Amino acid sequence: MRIVLAGATGTISSALVPQLLAAGHEVVGLTRTTTGAQRLRTAGVTPVVVDVMSADALLAALAGHTADAVVHQATAITRTPARHRDLHPTDALRDVGTRNLVRAAKQLGARKFITQSFFLGYGWCDHGQQLLTEEHPYAELGHGAFDHHMRSLRSNEEQVLGSADFDGTALRYGLFYGPEPFTRKMLALARRRLLPVPRPAATLHPIHIADAASATVAALERGRAGEAYNIVDDQPADMAEFLDAVAATAGAPAPRRIPGWLLRPTPYLHALLVGTRIGLDNGKAKRELDWAPRYPTFRDGLPSALT
Ligand SMILES: NC(=O)c1ccc[n+]([C@@H]2O[C@H](COP(=O)([O-])OP(=O)(O)OC[C@H]3O[C@@H](n4cnc5c(N)ncnc54)[C@H](OP(=O)(O)O)[C@@H]3O)[C@@H](O)[C@H]2O)c1
Repeated sequence: MRIVLAGATGTISSALVPQLLAAGHEVVGLTRTTTGAQRLRTAGVTPVVVDVMSADALLAALAGHTADAVVHQATAITRTPARHRDLHPTDALRDVGTRNLVRAAKQLGARKFITQSFFLGYGWCDHGQQLLTEEHPYAELGHGAFDHHMRSLRSNEEQVLGSADFDGTALRYGLFYGPEPFTRKMLALARRRLLPVPRPAATLHPIHIADAASATVAALERGRAGEAYNIVDDQPADMAEFLDAVAATAGAPAPRRIPGWLLRPTPYLHALLVGTRIGLDNGKAKRELDWAPRYPTFRDGLPSALT
């Protein structure tokens, strides 16, 4: 397939691009910078320099191109989101960015559209012990500052899954870890004994970026139109155990415990690391995409973060 990839220079694409090329696909990668374009060329990707937030610029930049599929992996989580506003640029990419890429997909004649979605669309709250399937509804609005994120997550999925112009699929990735910036930052903080573990700690559902990438390749080939898939490890992670394992991987002592309320001045981080308990069922992705994670748990995958 000829694939137009938004977010081609980003974290998941560092794993996705090599897998797409190895599977025989041709990749046209979008980036806003000439440095990004140079990196993409070196990686075997045809670059197009454009900001996906500008519809006119996007349609003009892609004029004359055709594609079989569009993959939307553009986010803007340039630092660990602590406050809600840290996620607003990513919210915009999931709303306006998706709208512009959907228009571009029509112009390109793409028959397939894969979009990046997020496991916390089910809600930043305590979901108990049950593993949520894709039948579980996305969170309703009415949760204050979270509504901004929820509106954009819903908008992203609705625009892609509801389109009659192509087969749209949404991938609800878990929490990325592996050889990627956020994990490297945690390893560095653990070495300096600056990675505290809140008590109580959240339960979240990780996914190694190599496995998020392999699920994306599988979804391009086998994802059903109008369907969302949970793309997560085989087990959710108690974040106290996860952070202890990060420290052990870094060769650092076990992190110290701090009361969870100390994170309240950073409300998003508090909700993420203290107030959320969530686990997802990945059975649909395994059955329908014929996919399985190479790293079934974070304990299997964390050592790769040192590479
Ligand atoms: N599910 C998850 O847990 C999850 C999801 C996403 C990110 N993260 C984490 O967040 C951290 C940062 O990752 P990230 O992927 O957001 O940042 P990143 O690695 O800097 O990548 C962002 C990508 O989106 C592109 N992009 C952003 N705005 C754009 C725009 N307006 N037009 C065109 N392209 C645009 C960037 O392209 P250019 O800069 O080249 O223009 C880049 O390719 C990582 O640690 C990652 O693991 C986690």
